[in-house]
Formats: sequence, C-alpha cells, structure tokens
Amino acid sequence: MSNLGDHQLGIYLSGMFDGKTPDITTDLAALEDRAREVLSPQAMGYIVPSAGHGETARANRAAFDRWRIVPRMLRGVAAQRDHSTTVLGTTMPAPVLIAPVGVQTLAHPDGELATARAAAAVGVPYIHSTAAAHTFEQVAEANGDGQRWYQLYWPTDQDVCLSFLRRARAAGFTTLVLTLDTTLLGWRPADLDRGFLPFLHDVGLANYLSDPAFQEKAGGSPTMHWAQMFPHPGLSWDDLPFLRDHWDGPIVLKGIVSVEDARLAVRHGMDGIVVSNHGGRQVDGAVAALDALGPIAEAVGSDLTVLFDSGVRTGADVVKALALGARAVLLGRPFLYGLALGGQQGVEHVLRCLLGELDITVALSGHSSCGELSRASLQAQ
Ligand code: FNR
Repeated sequence: MSNLGDHQLGIYLSGMFDGKTPDITTDLAALEDRAREVLSPQAMGYIVPSAGHGETARANRAAFDRWRIVPRMLRGVAAQRDHSTTVLGTTMPAPVLIAPVGVQTLAHPDGELATARAAAAVGVPYIHSTAAAHTFEQVAEANGDGQRWYQLYWPTDQDVCLSFLRRARAAGFTTLVLTLDTTLLGWRPADLDRGFLPFLHDVGLANYLSDPAFQEKAGGSPTMHWAQMFPHPGLSWDDLPFLRDHWDGPIVLKGIVSVEDARLAVRHGMDGIVVSNHGGRQVDGAVAALDALGPIAEAVGSDLTVLFDSGVRTGADVVKALALGARAVLLGRPFLYGLALGGQQGVEHVLRCLLGELDITVALSGHSSCGELSRASLQAQ
C-alpha cells in the first residue's frame, strides 16, 4: 500500500540520491506563468485568457480565496489513506477527472493523445471533447484500459450527433457529458484581436472530419459546414429525452451555475451536473463557479451527482470544492499547462502533484479520506 502523498518523498529522494529536481515546478498555481513562456502567441491567446475582460475568471479564483481550510489536530489520521471513489460507475484513485478541453495540439503536438496516456498512467478518468484535435478512436487507443467519458457539443445536425454518440460508445466512452454553456462561442478578445479561431484552420475538428455522417453532407467545404452546425442556441430541456433514447450510460450536464437549472436537471432525470462556468470563457460577468457550488449541492446533492470545475489549481482547491459539496472535481487549465511544458510527462507530473498535495492536505487537516470532508472543514473569510 502507498499514499498518493508519497510522490512528495519520491521527489525528495530523487534530489538526494540522483541530484535530480523536477523538470516542471511543483507549485501548480505557478504553471500558468511558466506555460506562457513556451506557448505561441496564438496558443497562449486561446488557452490562457477568458471571455470579455476576464472578470469571471478572476471571480473564480477570488471565490476560492474567500474560503480557508480549518485543520483539525490529534484525530488519529490513517497511515494508509484511501481517497479512491466511484463516480457514476467510474473508479478513480481520488475524486479528480480531466476536464474536456478541445484543440490540445495548440499546447503540444501530441495533444489529446498525450493527455489520454497520462490519465491512464495515473488512473484519472479522461473526458474527450467534441472539439478535439484527435478522434474518438485515436484517443481510445491512447487511453487503453483507462477510464474515459465523452463530452458532447450538440451539433444542429442530428445525424452527426447520432454518429458521434455511436462512435463514442463503440470506442469505450462510458458517461456522456453534455456541455450547455457553449451553444455559441463567448466573446474572447484575445482571440478576436488576433483574428484567430483554431477551428477555422481545421484544428480541433478531428471528430467531425473523420465522421461518415459529417463527410456525407460537408461536400467540398467542411470548415464552413462545421461553422453552420456548431451554434445551437435553440437547445432546450425538451431536447434531453433524445439523448436518453440514444445513450445507454449516465448523462451529465456541464455548465450549470443556478439552483433552478440544477433542479431542472433533476426533474429531467439527469444523472449528474458539472457546476462550471467554463473557466470564465463564456459569459464574462457570470457568477463565480465556487459561489454557485454550495447552494446547488445543498439543493440537489442527494438527487444527482454534483461535479465541479472552474478555477481549481491546487490540491487545497480540490479540498475546498469537495467540502462545499462536490462529489469530484474536473481539472482544466493546469493539466494543459503541464501538457505545454512536458507532453505526456508534463500532464502526469501535474496529476501526481495535484493528487499528492490533495492527500497531504486532507491528512494534515485531520481526515483519512476525501469522503470525510464537509462544510465544517472550512471557514468563510
Ligand atoms: C475548455 N473547456 C471546454 N469545455 C468543454 O466542455 N468542451 C471543450 O471543448 C472545452 N474546451 C476548452 C478549451 C480550453 C483551452 C480551456 C481552457 C477550457 C472548459 C473546461 O472543460 C473547464 O470547464 C475549464 O477549463 C475550467 O476552468 P479552469 O479551471 O481551466 O479555469
């Protein structure tokens, strides 16, 4: 038996015996600055900034700063701690998944393949974006025996939608994550000022371009065909039964930040939600995701699985989100920064550091597993 936190000792021992220090910083909140140094201006513009003036992205972080962990002492914490858990039938070593992120080749030429391999190596579930630069089938092969979910951007063409669902199922993706907050692209000045949208350069369209249903209709202008079928502002709660009819696994709605919508998700028989504002990339000025989490978890946490993302940077952040009622968190930009800095090894580094810091933070706070965290573990500032 070993603890996730043993990664810390491993780093110290490498330093002592081999004189080796980590290639990438272990301060996960500092990754953004390091990644800026290696990303091209276009990639940096797409990955790092958020929508509008970045108010919501800053609010996401500020919300974490308004909570402090209250460590408890002399609690007889287990020497062997077990944070493993099962979320919607998927097992994981700790309640952490890789968030769906499109166009990962902007960060590193190996893109999603490197991330899917790293996820499998660490045991963390990987969520494949519809807007990926590699196909379902390529990612499934890279992920091997790993656990994988599929994130749908619902195209207006139902044949393409059905084909995506079929391919994802056939490639071993078990849970469907429907992203609700991106029926249109947010207003993103960093990309607009460069006149750069990866998809218009055919980057991030791998699932589409490889799809028989898409190919049949795209004719000679696949990019324009994509541009027509991506916007879907008319999507409504009434469309959800269609997904139930064509997906036989759990369904999770991503992008919920209101208690009312969380209740509607319950009423529509959904299995889970991700409380998320897409890392502030969609509605600038929107409520911080962590501020939305507590009230939503309180209202529906016993009716469906509440997951969380937007602003998670460190193990301590994961502790705060779990204590406020999330069953598990999705890690977004930090793994992408690891990818930019070191490909598969970089993503593995970020995941191992995050899980290590999580284990040590939980233990030092007086708990033997993440499952023991509760609102009482925190104090509001
Ligand atoms: C995303 N995100 C995202 N979400 C999704 O459902 N499908 C997608 O294709 C993408 N693509 C994407 C690209 C990039 C570059 C980023 C940074 C994010 C959103 C992602 O799943 C998650 O909600 C956010 O990353 C969480 O915010 P933080 O923690 O990264 O700030």
